[in-house]
Amino acid sequence: MTDLLTPVLSANWGTAKSWDIGAYAAGGGYAALDKAFAMTPDQVTELVKDAGLRGRGGAGFPTGMKWSFVPKDNPNPKYLVVNADESEPGTCKDIPLLLASPHTLVEGMIIASYAIGCHTAFVYIRGEVLHVVRRLRNAVEQAYAAGHLGKDIHGSGYDLDIIVHAGAGAYICGEETALLDSLEGRRGQPRLRPPFPAVAGLYASPTVINNVESIATVPSIVVNGSSWFSAMGTEKSKGMTIYSLSGHVTRPGQFEAPLGVTLRELLELSGGIRDGHQLKFWTPGGSSTPILTGEHLDVPLDYEGMAGVGSMLGTKALQVFDETVSVVRTTLRWVEFYKHESCGKCTPCREGSWWLVQLLKQFEDGVAAPGDVDKLLDICDNIGGKSFCALADGAVACVTSAVRHFRPEFEAGYHTPARELFPYGRSALFEVPEGSHA
Ligand SMILES: Cc1cc2nc3c(=O)[nH]c(=O)nc-3n(C[C@H](O)[C@H](O)[C@H](O)COP(=O)(O)O)c2cc1C
Ligand code: SF4
Repeated sequence: MTDLLTPVLSANWGTAKSWDIGAYAAGGGYAALDKAFAMTPDQVTELVKDAGLRGRGGAGFPTGMKWSFVPKDNPNPKYLVVNADESEPGTCKDIPLLLASPHTLVEGMIIASYAIGCHTAFVYIRGEVLHVVRRLRNAVEQAYAAGHLGKDIHGSGYDLDIIVHAGAGAYICGEETALLDSLEGRRGQPRLRPPFPAVAGLYASPTVINNVESIATVPSIVVNGSSWFSAMGTEKSKGMTIYSLSGHVTRPGQFEAPLGVTLRELLELSGGIRDGHQLKFWTPGGSSTPILTGEHLDVPLDYEGMAGVGSMLGTKALQVFDETVSVVRTTLRWVEFYKHESCGKCTPCREGSWWLVQLLKQFEDGVAAPGDVDKLLDICDNIGGKSFCALADGAVACVTSAVRHFRPEFEAGYHTPARELFPYGRSALFEVPEGSHA
């Protein structure tokens, strides 16, 4: 079964001091730079296009194509901004990657910046993970000292500076245009598009924004070639990727495998559902992706497979819940997160997420009124697709999918508190103090 794993990004995670430049270089790190500099920038972009790499931040947009949108005739500086804000509930792959191997990202940034003609690149990193921020900053300093950053890198004539900027802990700043506003020193709120960032992004200049994993994948494509990469995965979802499993699994963690593996296969790798329990529901890609059930154990975890069953691959964050968990309760917890993180720019999301929380609390307490399930869906209908950015769509996806799969459990909220049907202590992975509802 372990031959399912394709460790490329995670290949060095187990080596001693894997985050240090010495260990990274000893494993072949930074070898991709000279190969890339021997190509023209356009050839590098074509290579990434041919490989079929799709953005790993959630939407799966083709990375090489995104790079090719940067207008060559624009006189302004071009920027690369790496999105390392990873804050979605359940999502846990960019931060582990940066913790274990920050140089993989630095090397990828140098190649991506070269391809798009950028000389100042940024990483916008989630500020709460201070140890990871320090590790990344240290990696950037090491890369300068080794001549991989700065002026005339490797004698190529190409110059690049990298700036690591720590965010202040707002989930919305992971949305790419809110991120740009935040990076410019403003309150992080999504921008109206067009213009798209490729044309007018950071400081109104052409900007490519990519996820950490997308950029960290680039050195392996340069070293091994596009056919090596596209031989992995499925017809339209190429390559390997990092899946993270959390919740009621025996051995949670990150598993790097080709796109298109199934949850059944990943569960076998992670020791299955915890002893004596059965799968109830799961998210394929974080809390913004519609939940699935045991029926979907064999659906390929790729963009097309997930779309085919009404969900999304998202960030490949598989949160797994067994039969002890109240779906009403998890839905409420997720919506509380979205309500808290709503930036307030538009009314349906700002007000609607607040109303959803009020109503879901009544379901959890067993005091919802008969018919309130339809009210819940009606509120969702007035938020999803009617708000300014995708945060709102994520906020309602967990509600509508939970009702679709578990409507009777919501209807039980007309008369019975969730804590009676699903006592908290049974689902907790740690001891819950007597009488606590936490
Ligand atoms: C509310 C919200 C939060 C997001 N958070 C992140 C994030 O933390 N990291 C990320 O890479 N993309 C995040 N995204 C997606 C980005 O807007 C963008 O699509 C992505 O960074 C593009 O990179 P990619 O093409 O390499 O996937 C978020 C989107 C939304 C709507
Ligand atoms: S949908 Fe929500 S998070 Fe997005 S802009 Fe509107 S209020 Fe802000």
